[in-house]
Amino acid sequence: MTNTSSSNKRKISDYKGYDYKKDFWDSGTREYENLCEHKTIQKILTKLKPTSITDIGCGFGRLYPTYSQFGTSWILLDYAHHLLKQASESNLKPNTTLISGSFYDIPIAKETTDCVLSIRTMHHMIDPERFFQEAWKILNYNGHLIVEIPNKRHIKNIIKTLPKLFTNPSLFFDLFSDKRLKLNDSFYNFNPTSIIKLLKKNNFKIEKTINTSFFRSAFLKKRINPQKLTQLDMIGQSFFSWIFLTPSVYVICKK
Ligand SMILES: C[S@@+](CC[C@H](N)C(=O)[O-])C[C@H]1O[C@@H](n2cnc3c(N)ncnc32)[C@H](O)[C@@H]1O
Repeated sequence: MTNTSSSNKRKISDYKGYDYKKDFWDSGTREYENLCEHKTIQKILTKLKPTSITDIGCGFGRLYPTYSQFGTSWILLDYAHHLLKQASESNLKPNTTLISGSFYDIPIAKETTDCVLSIRTMHHMIDPERFFQEAWKILNYNGHLIVEIPNKRHIKNIIKTLPKLFTNPSLFFDLFSDKRLKLNDSFYNFNPTSIIKLLKKNNFKIEKTINTSFFRSAFLKKRINPQKLTQLDMIGQSFFSWIFLTPSVYVICKK
């Protein structure tokens, strides 16, 4: 899927040559996840009402149509030039700036934005703390960071690991440890509790957590339409935000 470049310890997942939109989102199997993420962001931003929004690791601008309904200026940053080009070819509003760069070294001035949004990017962060420090730098005082955590201790993983509990107990306990779960050379999942600890260590105040993608299952997605699943997800989000059992957990925190 992605190549990993750079020899330093903060490896960058370079999407060069990967048609992320066509191969991942247009495959016809992720309409539920896509709809759910748009609705979740809409719900969060309706409450926060930011004036300026920065999407870090924006890809081809998949979520732009939703967050550009809020505020008056937008910055889209990504490492992959071809994805930024794709974003630039969509219908962008006048106060939109596209920037090429890395989330480890964000080329944006201090205290520039009210809201930093980063969705599906933590998969590629070997050093999330560095990103949190960079997000802190560009956020205005009282600004918000919205970050999506790919959860390694979601219910399916727990169930899958249970039978191995007797032969290899460390596998099960790893799910709850601070260690990231390495899925391949450039793809990680995390324990949300550890990430929340790291955000607090970097002075962020945690305002809310949201569990989402309750129904990320091929069986359910084949049988129930994405709109219905998204409605059910929204209900789930209201009741189960405190236990991190879904594959995707959003954290909303304040500078
Ligand atoms: C899974 S995609 C998510 C894209 C978008 N946020 C979305 O939800 O559609 C991950 C994105 O992170 C970008 N990325 C990976 N490493 C990066 C880095 N070090 N700095 C900036 N962007 C990076 C990739 O180019 C890709 O666009």
